[in-house]
Amino acid sequence: MAILDLKYYGAQVLTRAAKPVKHIDRELIKLAQDMLESMYHYHGVGLAAPQVGVSKRFIVVDCGDEFQEAPYFLVNPEVVSTEGVQYGPEGCLSLPEFFTDVERPARAVVKALDLRGAPITINAEGFLARALLHEIDHLNGVLFTERVEDEQLLVREIPVMKERIRMILSGEIPAVPEYDEDEVLHLEETADMAEAAKDEAVPV
Ligand code: NI
Repeated sequence: MAILDLKYYGAQVLTRAAKPVKHIDRELIKLAQDMLESMYHYHGVGLAAPQVGVSKRFIVVDCGDEFQEAPYFLVNPEVVSTEGVQYGPEGCLSLPEFFTDVERPARAVVKALDLRGAPITINAEGFLARALLHEIDHLNGVLFTERVEDEQLLVREIPVMKERIRMILSGEIPAVPEYDEDEVLHLEETADMAEAAKDEAVPV
């Protein structure tokens, strides 16, 4: 397996509709493994193939035990239906350290093929619905900035994020944000803070 380089805001592959996967072959299986490893490496909960420069309709999602027993590997995923509204923080590995509230449907039914070619249907709600809809947006060349209504926020924050991307690409700062391990442990130890941490945005 390998850690893949991420494509960042401004890369053309992120704004183009990805092509359907025609064959689930060894190349796709390898991509799936590398994408999962890369997603964990960069501390994301979802990753779409265009984010690693591959314009194919394939995503990986792992929102954790609360939502799923194992990581999802979804080939040609489609949104069948959505329902309700949720409003909450969202981030994206291709838009480093930029988080803001985004409106999404509260629930979504998604169908796809798994890596054996078997059809699967996911009835998602809450954060999992958000993650799946965000990743499927990527396959349509849509970034979550397009779903942000606060134009002023974008005008203010996008140049900051672009500078951060420049620094990542030039090696001035690491691609993986550095966390204070003591702080992470403390969060796990303290119920209140763990609860607070659940509300924090995680890049998808
Ligand atoms: Ni994303």
